[in-house]
Amino acid sequence: MKHFLSIAELAPQELHNLLELADKLKREWRNGGNAPILKGKSIALVFQKPSLRTRVSFEMGMVHLGGYALYLSPNEIKMGGRESVPDVARVLSGYVDGVMARVFAHEHILQLAEYSSVPIINGLSDYNHPAQALADFFTIWEYKKNLEGLKLAYVGDGNNVARSLLFAAMKSGTHFSIATPAGYELTAGDLELGRSFSQAGAQIETHHDPAAAVADADVIYTDVWTSMGQEEESAERLKLFPPYQINQQLVSKAKPDCLVMHCLPAHRGEEITDEVADGPNSVLFPQAENRMHAQKAVLATLLA
Ligand code: CP
Ligand code: NVA
Repeated sequence: MKHFLSIAELAPQELHNLLELADKLKREWRNGGNAPILKGKSIALVFQKPSLRTRVSFEMGMVHLGGYALYLSPNEIKMGGRESVPDVARVLSGYVDGVMARVFAHEHILQLAEYSSVPIINGLSDYNHPAQALADFFTIWEYKKNLEGLKLAYVGDGNNVARSLLFAAMKSGTHFSIATPAGYELTAGDLELGRSFSQAGAQIETHHDPAAAVADADVIYTDVWTSMGQEEESAERLKLFPPYQINQQLVSKAKPDCLVMHCLPAHRGEEITDEVADGPNSVLFPQAENRMHAQKAVLATLLA
């Protein structure tokens, strides 16, 4: 593994190895602290968009492993504006051992990888969010003890998070069911690519009816209806998405012990109710914590 750009690029065994390593590093941390395997290593965290989880979990993950993380806010390097993406990649490569970037255009992640001589980690683009999906499958694995044969139902926008979950599900042997409003589906190309990764007979179901999507699900997952960068579409989306809210009535159609997940930040009262977000099926906050453990596995694999 040279970079961490998309779950699509990981062999199923590599994905599994990252989950195992996340588990090991989480236990080690809980038992008193991680060994400083990244002592003397540094990473630049480049953000074109806001972040709580991605920024803090990568930064603290690096600190726990003995390394150093440098946060570069959207106003600092103005990647692609003040300076071209290839030049940013070439310059940062001379200073740090790795770069994590959160960008608008996925093309910028690909350019960073092309022009940098150090590993690039995708911290979310308009196309995908692989660090999120890795942490999410780690969370499901912790709670359910396995991944093969489970059913994950994603309800909401066919967006970056949904795409990474589709890929991670197929590579893990997890059935993936998705309900979106018409016009907000994952593309036919996404579904075809996902299908090509299917392990252990994992199937994809697509729906417009959320109740059909969550029937018998082991995991219900949602995300905001309007992603960062789509703010001007917010009013239109708010008209279409309310039937896709994760509320107790919808949760009751899944398995009684289903996990409810959300990458966060949540717009409570829109895509998820307080009752569900704070209810017995919710794993929202263990899921958020697991971002750090999963990312440590990526950092350790790429930088140690
Ligand atoms: N889930 C997630 O990536 O959160 P942030 O946008 O706060 O980093
Ligand atoms: N789909 C959301 C995820 C945020 C973590 C966005 O791109 O804004």
